Order: sequence, then C-alpha cells, then structure tokens
Amino acid sequence: MPRTIKIDPVTRIEGHARISIYLDDQGGVRDCRLHITQVRGFEAFCVGRPLEEMPGLTSRTCGICPVSHQLASAKACDRLLAVQIPPAAVLLRKLLNFGQLVQSHALSFFHLSSPDLLLGMDADPESRNIFGIAAAFPEVAYDGIALRRFGQQLIERLAGKRIHPNWVVPGGVSRPLSPENREALLAELPEMLTKASRNLTRLEELLPRFSAEIAAFTPPPTSFMALTGAENRLEFYDGPLRLLDAAGRPLVEGLPPSRYGEIIAEAVEGDSYLKSPYYRPQGPEQGVYRVGPLARLNLIENCGTPQADQALGRFRELTASNALPQSAFHYHYARLIEIIHGLEMIGELLNEPEILSQRVRATAGANAPEGVGICEAPRGTLIHHYRIDGQGIIKAVNMIIATGNNNLAINRGILQAARALIQNGQFSEGALNRIEALIRCYDPCLSCSTHAQGPKPFTVEIIRQHHVPDRECPPPDRQ
Ligand code: MG
Ligand code: NI
Repeated sequence: MPRTIKIDPVTRIEGHARISIYLDDQGGVRDCRLHITQVRGFEAFCVGRPLEEMPGLTSRTCGICPVSHQLASAKACDRLLAVQIPPAAVLLRKLLNFGQLVQSHALSFFHLSSPDLLLGMDADPESRNIFGIAAAFPEVAYDGIALRRFGQQLIERLAGKRIHPNWVVPGGVSRPLSPENREALLAELPEMLTKASRNLTRLEELLPRFSAEIAAFTPPPTSFMALTGAENRLEFYDGPLRLLDAAGRPLVEGLPPSRYGEIIAEAVEGDSYLKSPYYRPQGPEQGVYRVGPLARLNLIENCGTPQADQALGRFRELTASNALPQSAFHYHYARLIEIIHGLEMIGELLNEPEILSQRVRATAGANAPEGVGICEAPRGTLIHHYRIDGQGIIKAVNMIIATGNNNLAINRGILQAARALIQNGQFSEGALNRIEALIRCYDPCLSCSTHAQGPKPFTVEIIRQHHVPDRECPPPDRQ
C-alpha cells in the first residue's frame, strides 16, 4: 500500500514546491524529485515593452527579491543605453544591494531556519517556527527581526518603499540620498553588527551538534560560481564571473558577464517548471554547480572587511588544507558571515563623501541591441539578458534566477539525504523535516522562480515503485 505524507501548509520556504520520493520494493529510496509546480511568464510577457519599464516590471517577479531583479535589470539597461553611470549611482546601488542582502539573509536564517537549529530537527512541528524561537530564545528572535527591519528600512530610506520600489533606473537611480537618511542609518549600524556577531558565535557553538546533518547534507561534489571583485574579493554588484571545480581548481576566470552564455546552458525537466542551468562545457550530468553564500565564500580570497574576514578565517577551518566546504549546511554559516560583511560595507559606503552627490543618473536613448546585467542576489548569481529593436522595444528576454542555478544540486542533495534518512520504508517526522531543512539551507526563492495563484501545499510524497511507472511523475496540484 503506498504511503503518502503531506506536510501542509508550506513550511518555511519562499514559494511552493513538492518533493516525490520513490521507494523500491525493499522500501529503499529509488529516486527523488523536487517539483516546482508553477510557471513564470516574465521572459514572455516583457517582450514588446519599452526598455525603460524593465527594472520596474521585473522587480515584480518576487516580493522577497525585488531589489535584486531591479539591479540586474537596470544593469542590463545601462548596456542598452551604452552609458557609464555616475559614481554616486554605483555607490547607491551597491548600498541598496547590501540592504537587500541583510534583510533577506536575516529572514532565511532567523525566521525560516533557526527553529531547526535551536529547537532541533525533531522538535514538535507545532512550535518549530519563529514563534517557538520567540518563546524559547527571545533574544535570537528579536535580533533576527531587528536585522531584517534594518535592511528593509535601508531600502525604504533609499528607494522610497520596502517592496517593489522603482528607484533603480536605466542609467543610475532616480534620486539622491539625503544627509538625514545617511545619519539615521549610520546611527543604527553598531547595534546591528553586535546582533549579527553574537548570532554567528551562537551558530559556531552549535555546529558540533549537527555533524550528522552536515554529513547528510553534503551532495555529490559540485562546482561553484559567483561574480568576484578585484583580486577575487567578495563582490555583489559587479565584476567578472568565476567558476571553480569541487576541488577548488579554476574552470572559468574573469569572464565578462556579457559572455555568460558560453558557460551556462539551461536544461528543461518534464516534471518541473524550474529550469536546470548547468556548466555548458560539461553537460547537464557533470556540469552541476552551486551559487549563493557558500559558493561566494568558496570562490574568494577575502571579504575585504575586517569582521567578515576574521569569520572567514574560522569558516576556512571547517575543512582540512585547501578543500572547499561542500555541505549545504554551511550555507547557514556563510550567510551569517555575509550579513556581517553587508553591515560593514553599508558603513563603508555611507562614509564615502561621493554618496551624497546630486548627480545620480545618466540619460540616453537606445544605443546597443543587446545588454546583459548580472548581480549577486542573496541566493546567488542573477542574470538578466535583453535584446531590443532600434526604438528600444524589448524583443527577447532571458532571466536565469539565482535559485535555478542550484536546482540540479538541490535535487541530487535531496536524493542523497533521502537515501540516508529513509531505509526499509521507515522514517520519522524528523527525517522528513531534515529533507526540508536541507532545501532551506539553499534558501530557495521559488516565488522568484515561479508564480502561483492561491495556496499550494508543500508536500513530501513517498511512493512505492509498483504504483508509479518509471520516470513518470504525478501531475501537479490543480487548485
Ligand atoms: Mg531563462
Ligand atoms: Ni525571489
């Protein structure tokens, strides 16, 4: 008799997904698939719109990541205008991006994942949430809420509103930063750094308790990709693409964003609306790479800010000699280090005299037929690629969403974890939560990757082999 376990409603991820775990006759795990069951249409319906609309339009892709889409889009549009944007606009865009990084990482770590880490993977699901954290570890809950609020207020002070602002525009930003807003943000920074640091220490102290999960969450080896700065410094806004193999050997160095198509291709799977990008020269079987906090820290020489670099030194000690940390569990660790780096960079940027300049936008018409904009979103490398006609009307759009880059690695990781956690058809609620917790490590933004109407449950189904023909997956929920 087939057993189906549903985890309903969606718990602690951004967006909607379903996992199928296929068992063989002995009750072992035969195969495993993550289905993203909604379609996203931005690549199609942006066609025909004027290029000036693109940052505002594509920011609607997601309520969590509007800033990231706006930045990647505006950078693509800068190329279409063929302009160099004013220095203050670069500083302001970078500042906005760090506000987004802090608020999004705080949401992922504190609101979504800290219940697993502090209350335990096997804790009662009734309390395994941010309210349970607020009851048992109030300081952690308040720190998380404060850090997210700070990131969101930064976005609001710069861009006018927290969600779907329309401030980043082709050629720069639409208005300068006021001295009052600069002072208000600077005043809060020291306290935010204290909050971030004490939670990093807390996580470092917790790591030994999770050695089993750290092992179970280690997928088959993958490459890592991110933008990198000068001398391979941590970089979120600009710079060339770098890709290292699992052993840390460079596969791609210094590749200009406009040439991303030489290294990335997208596969389409029959049972998911989320595409599966892969490293083109190695094909979809071998060319699995990861992006996001773990990838970024594995790719760099240093962060370039003192507190984050101290933490990076400790992060490097996770593995012997030059081996790169591979466990998805360490996304949490990397995420907290990036919050600290983001806060330090917010301070550096706010103290740049140029940041208060009134010159924040270059204007021009359509001057180039094609533009690519890439930035590092909280979840990883985000690519917008547009083609226009002579009047600046969009003719083609390709977007590669940060979460999509991790799709193949997440699927392989789930299979491996399911095999470790489910044997002879036996499993506990905690085992299924661990499979979800593995996905939470990547902080997937499925709202970015797909779009849904109405509530969709996140379900884990365990299906015996004789009820499911080979490779055929159950139809997506229709609601
Ligand atoms: Mg695409
Ligand atoms: Ni998103």
